[in-house]
Amino acid sequence: FWSQSERSAIADLWDKIDVDEIGPQALARVLIVYPWTQRYFDKFGNLNSVAAILGNPKVAAHGKVVLNALHNAVQNLDNIKATYSKLSQLHCEILNVDPDNFRLLADCLTIVIATKFGAAFTPEIQATWQKFLAVVVAALSSRYF
Ligand code: HEM
Repeated sequence: FWSQSERSAIADLWDKIDVDEIGPQALARVLIVYPWTQRYFDKFGNLNSVAAILGNPKVAAHGKVVLNALHNAVQNLDNIKATYSKLSQLHCEILNVDPDNFRLLADCLTIVIATKFGAAFTPEIQATWQKFLAVVVAALSSRYF
């Protein structure tokens, strides 16, 4: 399923990603670009403006949690579905997150990465990265059906 060059493209890109920087930016972007996603995070406090979202420490902390969870998938490329089984169940049954939102987060993450790495994020790397995220999204959605 993963070629050797795909495996190294994902590993190389992941090595360059600073979770503490990219995670907060990606989650903040979802909350800004798709404001209806804010309703899942009502206990995170003030999300009433772009500045509030970007400066919200709970958003930043949770962005890091999400990217650290993505690290699990990077380390378990051949087993992503099983890796996310519990997390899928949590988002479905406990958090009641609409699974469409996983793709929105994936897209925002890709945009944050493209903004950060510019030309180094080549079309080939993007293609592999988006394949990876598509598998992640499918795995997170797997317990919904
Ligand atoms: C919690 C991962 C997407 C809403 C979590 C947790 C993880 C996680 C690891 C903590 C679980 C725990 O406490 O045991 C991910 C990953 C995602 C993703 C890897 C996609 C790549 C989303 C999306 C939403 C969302 C798109 C909503 C728009 C939540 C909420 C919580 C949560 C509301 C609970 C937060 C809290 O109470 O502190 N997620 N998540 N997640 N996630 Fe996600």
